[in-house]
Amino acid sequence: MEKIQVVTKGVLNCVSNAEIEALRPEGVSALSKLVDGTGAGNDFLGWVKLPTETPAALLNDINATAAQLRELCDVVVAIGIGGSYLGAKAVIEALGNSFAAYKNDGIKVLFAGQNIGEDYTAELQEYLADKKFGIIVISKSGTTTEPAIAFRILKEQLEKQVGHEEAKRRIVAITDEKRGALRSLANTEGYKTFVIADNVGGRFSVLSPVGLLPIAVAGYDIKELMKGAADMQKATLDGQCDAALTYALTRNALYRAGKKIEILVNYNPKLHFFAEWWKQLYGESEGKENKGIFPAAVDNTTDLHSMGQWIQEGERSIFETVISVAKSDRELRIPFDEANLDGLNYIAGKRIDEVNKMAELGTRIAHIDGGVPNLLIELPALSEYYLGSLIYFFEAACGISGYILDVNPFNQPGVEAYKRNMFALLEKPGYEKETEAIRAKLS
Ligand code: PA5
Repeated sequence: MEKIQVVTKGVLNCVSNAEIEALRPEGVSALSKLVDGTGAGNDFLGWVKLPTETPAALLNDINATAAQLRELCDVVVAIGIGGSYLGAKAVIEALGNSFAAYKNDGIKVLFAGQNIGEDYTAELQEYLADKKFGIIVISKSGTTTEPAIAFRILKEQLEKQVGHEEAKRRIVAITDEKRGALRSLANTEGYKTFVIADNVGGRFSVLSPVGLLPIAVAGYDIKELMKGAADMQKATLDGQCDAALTYALTRNALYRAGKKIEILVNYNPKLHFFAEWWKQLYGESEGKENKGIFPAAVDNTTDLHSMGQWIQEGERSIFETVISVAKSDRELRIPFDEANLDGLNYIAGKRIDEVNKMAELGTRIAHIDGGVPNLLIELPALSEYYLGSLIYFFEAACGISGYILDVNPFNQPGVEAYKRNMFALLEKPGYEKETEAIRAKLS
């Protein structure tokens, strides 16, 4: 079986191997903190062994629930935000047909509650008006405003379309075992539920029912996804594979050398949302105490025609991490054209992927020459197995990296600030003092 590889040669224009290696003791100690639970935020380490410790019975239950939703519905709306949204979206987009976004016997999975866009929600309602739809509502806390609004609206619509009893069969809730408004509602209504374990934080929850149920509904093999993750887990934790450690060491060496922004680069548009998931994982885990690499992302070659100029010649505060997918699934060759008016006959007969790979290599060389250190992550294929491995790789590296940075990678105190102000402005009961304070600020 081929493996995910991390290639660091392209960063040596900025940091030396010795500088990267100097961080190894900190990295090794960070990894052991993840394993033995002695670091900050150690009550949120449930994700570390999730791939190997998830019972087969739970995966079977998720698959059976997905099959039932597929039988009852043509479309399922997964409602959630942040960690309760991005993992499923990332995997479904990465594995899906670009124009159908689902395959096998899966059905369309749409997303809601990841924004408060009135037009988005109204258009979704309109789209669902003549569809057989179901809902997976996901919220660990069970109290997050965005998904709560979307669920209230879509639940009402579903009940109107199919009646209260049938709606109950088509709604699945994923939330805390005991606490929160969603748990109370699910218990009252008798919805099928799955639990998000207390010790698994939102952005580390894709390999729990949070990500697995929508992914299974869309028709993908969650057992293969978990197998890929489990193999990466075992290899990372027992030291056989140091890919996650190497990535964590290298990005921290670059950060200490003044590279404050990491751009995750893909050359496969299906990875757009994988980068969104990665941005949340690293942004929420590391951006605290006025520290942390800013995680950004580009989709190439699309963004070479927009951000490419900045990356090539802008401020030298960035480094790139390229996810390079070795093979594409399909084979499509550029046709020969007698008239050759577009001048493309020099690449006639070549696969599109060959051209893409040359664009990737050419860009990497140009960026390295332009002073942008370049880390390379080689992914053998876009499959359930390798996506599972890649997810675990990034999660483990994130935990290690956060500890090297000396922050608690598993909390997110900063996300409360906007909520407090929003509640104050909306005059939520219990926020009277905040309402007064924010009005004074605005006057
Ligand atoms: O990573 C996190 O913890 C957050 O991004 C949450 O996932 C997000 O805020 C959604 O929270 P909840 O699942 O409680 O609705």
